[in-house]
Amino acid sequence: TSPLPVFSQVEVTKHRSLEDGVWVTYKGGVYDITEFVNKHPGGDKIMLAAGGAIEPFWAMYAVHNQEHVLEILSEYKVGEL
Ligand code: HEM
Repeated sequence: TSPLPVFSQVEVTKHRSLEDGVWVTYKGGVYDITEFVNKHPGGDKIMLAAGGAIEPFWAMYAVHNQEHVLEILSEYKVGEL
């Protein structure tokens, strides 16, 4: 298995709509969460993090501090920063 591609922060920033894809970063990983946006239990608040880091939002919404949330996120990994 080959390593995942490396993306720049600028590339991630270009993905912040359902049309262009919704990417976020978490601890150095890049995630394409486009398919998850409409499944998010917290509704469209998730779009606040589109194109950037989710850490500041997850720090405010501690509901994400659970193993099962990280398992969901891991399914969408597409690369590294
Ligand atoms: C709830 C995933 C980003 C706000 C949840 C839950 C999951 C989840 C699985 C349900 C947790 C549970 O009840 O056990 C994610 C993922 C995200 C993300 C994978 C990013 C890739 C965000 C962002 C915000 C947010 C950026 C806010 C700006 C919320 C809120 C809830 C929630 C408010 C609680 C909804 C409720 O129970 O009424 N999220 N989330 N989430 N999320 Fe997110």
